[in-house]
Amino acid sequence: MIRDKNIVLGVSGSIAAYKAAEVASQLIQLGAKVEVVMTESSRHFVGPLTFSALTGREVYTSFWEGSGVRHIELASKADLILIAPATANLIAMLAQGLASDLITSLVLATRAPVLLAPAMESNMYLNTITQENISKLKDRGFVFIGPDEGHLASGGKGVGRLAMLEDIIGAVSMVLGRDGVLGGRTVVVTAGGTHEPIDPVRYVANRSSGKMGYALALGARDRGARVRLISGPTCLKPPYGVEFTAVKTAAEMKEATFKAVEGADALFMAAAVADFRSARVLSGKLKRESGGIILEMEATEDILAGLKGDFFKVGFALETGDVVEQAREKLERKGLDLIVANGPESFESDFIKATLISHDSVEDLPLMSKADLADLILDRAAELITMEKNL
Ligand SMILES: Cc1cc2nc3c(=O)[nH]c(=O)nc-3n(C[C@H](O)[C@H](O)[C@H](O)COP(=O)(O)O)c2cc1C
Repeated sequence: MIRDKNIVLGVSGSIAAYKAAEVASQLIQLGAKVEVVMTESSRHFVGPLTFSALTGREVYTSFWEGSGVRHIELASKADLILIAPATANLIAMLAQGLASDLITSLVLATRAPVLLAPAMESNMYLNTITQENISKLKDRGFVFIGPDEGHLASGGKGVGRLAMLEDIIGAVSMVLGRDGVLGGRTVVVTAGGTHEPIDPVRYVANRSSGKMGYALALGARDRGARVRLISGPTCLKPPYGVEFTAVKTAAEMKEATFKAVEGADALFMAAAVADFRSARVLSGKLKRESGGIILEMEATEDILAGLKGDFFKVGFALETGDVVEQAREKLERKGLDLIVANGPESFESDFIKATLISHDSVEDLPLMSKADLADLILDRAAELITMEKNL
């Protein structure tokens, strides 16, 4: 959702100003057009050349350079103004509606959303005046990301660190997409495999990486949805801005999913939930000296089949053999609206070759990234949900 967007990156005079170079670089790599505006103070911390080299554009600090009404030009073409880092001083100026430099003036002049990433020493951040300024700005629709807790430049620890780069990028993406096709909808996504215990240290698992489910959660978030992500154990970081529930077993996944779908508009069941679990979980660790074991497995409960409710259901069918036929049968049997059929070669990979099956269409898709497939599924689902609601 960041591609081709015009983003004004405001940099103010915090020790964290050097991190703004990473923010600019990431936004550029994601396809945004980035204009950097710096406060006078920020130039003591990082030079404009860093930003002009990264963005390929002139960097502005003052009204009085160049020609034209720069703050109005920048304000009107921006899709988003991101100020990272935002100092206590700049936050105070914005809360008062001052227009004494280029950044404050363009924030006053814009209709674009404004996202602020504060960075300052803990006492400055926790000061009642700063807190009141932040509340005032929030009430007026400004969005804040961070600050985080951790090591501070002063040498101590506490709240005040600039939010992590990936969370800032996540927040940018989320704010840009907030009026998207899933705006106002609540979407539940399940992801990853489950761990079914055998004894206190061992479990039966599968090769699911969670990448498809996490891509769906990100995509839904960036289309304006409120996202509830329920995930089995994976190596992935919970995405910024989604309500995250971690589960381990199929039984936990079932309980969390049943709870999450209450009031939801759609469920994307991308998790590879175990079909079997050990019939008996041993209380002590199995010893090699026992010479070997025979595991008795029993079927787990089918989450999708047991779910009732008036929401859009998307299932995934990872099968061997005639994948499409089996997926079609699953679509009918489980009362799904859409099913994504694929083979085991997509496990762990960033890419997937899938077939999208609804009640009246079968679409064989080329090999694509899981992020691209997530986009395609979400756009299709959004169309079908809107059609259903309008019937
Ligand atoms: C070494 C140093 C580090 C600073 N770090 C911060 C900071 O992290 N956050 C902050 O709000 N102010 C910080 N300040 C104070 C601001 O630079 C000062 O308030 C300045 O007026 C901010 O101007 P600006 O908001 O126009 O960029 C720092 C000052 C110095 C000298």
